[in-house]
Amino acid sequence: KDSLQAQLIRIYEEANRFYHQVLTQTQTGEKALAYLHERQLTDETIEEFQLGYSPSQRGALVDYLKGKLEDISYDVLVQSALFIETQEKELLDRFSNRIIFPITNHQSETIAFSGRHVDLEDDDVWIESSGHPPAKYVNSPDTPIFNKSDTLYNYAKARAQVRRQEEIYLFEGYMDVIAAWQAGLPNGVASMGTSLTASQIRQIEKLTDKIIIAYDGDSAGLQASDRALDLLSKEYFDLELVLFPDKSDPDDYIQKRGSESFLDLMHHGRLTPTGFYLQYYRQNRNLNNESELLEYIDQVLKEMVHVASAVEREVYLKQLADEFDLTIDSLKDQLSQIISQHRHQKIQEKYADKNTSSSLTQT
Ligand code: UTP
Ligand code: MN
Ligand code: MN
Ligand code: MN
Ligand code: MN
Repeated sequence: KDSLQAQLIRIYEEANRFYHQVLTQTQTGEKALAYLHERQLTDETIEEFQLGYSPSQRGALVDYLKGKLEDISYDVLVQSALFIETQEKELLDRFSNRIIFPITNHQSETIAFSGRHVDLEDDDVWIESSGHPPAKYVNSPDTPIFNKSDTLYNYAKARAQVRRQEEIYLFEGYMDVIAAWQAGLPNGVASMGTSLTASQIRQIEKLTDKIIIAYDGDSAGLQASDRALDLLSKEYFDLELVLFPDKSDPDDYIQKRGSESFLDLMHHGRLTPTGFYLQYYRQNRNLNNESELLEYIDQVLKEMVHVASAVEREVYLKQLADEFDLTIDSLKDQLSQIISQHRHQKIQEKYADKNTSSSLTQT
């Protein structure tokens, strides 16, 4: 008999086949398919990512699986987490009336789903019965075959392209990965709606040391970019970022401006981390106000501590000096002060670490 893991993967593969069939070949899936077409996804893309639709009738999946997986026990079906078990031991589909995005492991086997809520007819019923609007995306919970924080969406498909092109694009959403693929960028992945984890970083590191962060242009996305830079700059990655205008995300941008303009932005519109921070710290700040300007310059200079190249530092200092009518020497002075403070702090941290570890060994 197959191991538990192998049985769970068989269940997910069958479930995926079911959802995909419902979306592409049945009347039940027509509206969801029209929704995806409206979002400009082609049938080829829907095939490539094996997108699906879970009907609102919540017994449909288990009925389908019963015919396909006769050797699989009730207990294993429960462990798959594809269902909500009622008190009467009835299995109801966890995903109902949602567009299904299959999540795969490194071997391209389906190990989880994410379901996007769609504005189809019976949402009002949903809100009335639960009192709140449905979450935009629902993800499978962790199971013996799926650990959310170890998983990157589209990793298996992107892997070969990342190696070939020696760089990877990091997106925020599944739809961004898919729209970018359709526009001609096959080397994109997304984390699973959480900030980047150490395990995800290890997996990227195996493929390339060059990462282009292409998160959403809204304030949540900018904040996530800042957080990702903090995490990734501790490692030896070569980092660049792309900013999307008017709070848009990559998928919005493609729909509005087309693939060519998108590819151009992704290839030729990249910023260095310092270039990003020059814009990031400008948000919600009036730079005509002297104290706000000083704060801004201080924050940008603090980020420049990590810039190894003297020439790169010079370029940005010159830019700041020109824009705010300062001398480059005064900026240089302040930067070297910040750098020596930073070093001092590092040394103290190290010293404090040593003290705590030696007091631990003494007791
Ligand atoms: P976004 O809200 O930016 O969604 O969340 P999106 O990817 O642009 O999706 P569309 O275009 O509205 O369809 C970004 C990512 O955060 C996770 C998902 O991984 C999503 O792709 N997320 C978001 C959740 O896990 N749950 C949610 O309720 C919302
Ligand atoms: Mn198909
Ligand atoms: Mn977002
Ligand atoms: Mn988005
Ligand atoms: Mn979007």
